[in-house]
Amino acid sequence: MAFVGAPLPSLASNPTSTSSHTNPIRPVTSGFFLPARPARLTASPKTNAARPVTPVMTFKPYTAIVTGASSSIGLHAAKELVARGDYHVVMAVRNIEKAKAAAEQLQMPPDSYTLLPIDLASLASVRAFVQKFQSQFSSLNSLVCNAATWHPRDKKPRFTEDGYDETVQVNHLSHFLLANLLLPMLKKTKGRCVFLATQTHNPDTLPGKIPPQADLGQLQGMSSGFNTLPGTIDGKAFEPTKAYKDSKVCNILTMKEMHRRHASSGVAFTAIFPGCIAQSELFREKRGWFRWFFPLFQKYVTRQMVPVEEAGRRVALVASDGRFGDSGVYWQWRGSYLEGMDRTAPVPIEATDRESEKAEMLWELSAKLVNMGA
Ligand SMILES: NC(=O)c1ccc[n+]([C@@H]2O[C@H](COP(=O)([O-])OP(=O)(O)OC[C@H]3O[C@@H](n4cnc5c(N)ncnc54)[C@H](OP(=O)(O)O)[C@@H]3O)[C@@H](O)[C@H]2O)c1
Repeated sequence: MAFVGAPLPSLASNPTSTSSHTNPIRPVTSGFFLPARPARLTASPKTNAARPVTPVMTFKPYTAIVTGASSSIGLHAAKELVARGDYHVVMAVRNIEKAKAAAEQLQMPPDSYTLLPIDLASLASVRAFVQKFQSQFSSLNSLVCNAATWHPRDKKPRFTEDGYDETVQVNHLSHFLLANLLLPMLKKTKGRCVFLATQTHNPDTLPGKIPPQADLGQLQGMSSGFNTLPGTIDGKAFEPTKAYKDSKVCNILTMKEMHRRHASSGVAFTAIFPGCIAQSELFREKRGWFRWFFPLFQKYVTRQMVPVEEAGRRVALVASDGRFGDSGVYWQWRGSYLEGMDRTAPVPIEATDRESEKAEMLWELSAKLVNMGA
């Protein structure tokens, strides 16, 4: 990879990291055959009958989970991790057939990844995924919380089976639950937990000033249980793009709060803004003219456009490379990729500070909403 070996001038004086330790993904010393766990019986969701689960045999020293690996950034991050040669990637997806076809199209070696179903619009599905993963894999080194949904044309929220706005549940609540359920495994390997973040969620940045701006308010909607109209975090009127941006603030605050609570365990909690991938499927529900205009605008006006392959490479680096091992850091790449990759460099950026004091409250409320003690 072109970036590996390049200097990282800003790392030594990282202003956002409050952790003194670094967290390299360390080589495994106890051999390469990982699944030490014996096969055990689980209930099949379809038949409810007990059936044996066969551990996945991987000869790779490291295992990563990438949610939403069926398209765009997640897919290419999975591909890049596999291309390192030392990672087995679990593609955590809601559409197995789509993900399988996508992996095959990118010619990912079939034994380098495993497809496991997860529907982030269902907390039961998140728990079932974790059970299945733990029955098939004995360790986890990197969790990439990448999947997201955005319904820019909706007039009212889509409530999930758990009773929450789908955007907030898929993007935030389910990843919050997933990360917490997998935390004991990450602690054992001193692994990484990476959240995909944006710029638009932060009203202190230029893109973040474009209305509707993210604003969690005092989390009034969440405090009141969240499952009736308007279904918004701040309890104010529903606006789909604000719901997306608010959920992305939650990703950052979750990263910060996990760092505050658990970084001493050696796990590195980080976030990454991968750049603007203007042609990604995230924009699938935008009107045709926007999908035509937006990539041109990002390419020629803001010059912030990044190809999806490069975005995947950046995510894979933050999830696996030793130089991204500081906990509590929010990464973005400085410089225009269009002017050449050698003109870009990773830099830590300040997360949205105007919401930071809400991180603990968000944590407590989220834990209640996902029934974390259960
Ligand atoms: N695109 C950008 O410019 C940009 C910029 C900054 C940050 N990001 C962040 O990057 C991440 C990936 O975005 P992207 O551009 O790659 O978008 P994308 O192509 O739409 O990918 C989103 C992924 O999430 C999955 N997903 C959606 N709902 C799900 C659910 N209920 N259960 C499980 N998986 C679900 C999708 O699955 P299906 O394939 O089945 O639909 C897809 O794999 C997001 O967190 C986004 O906020 C993107």
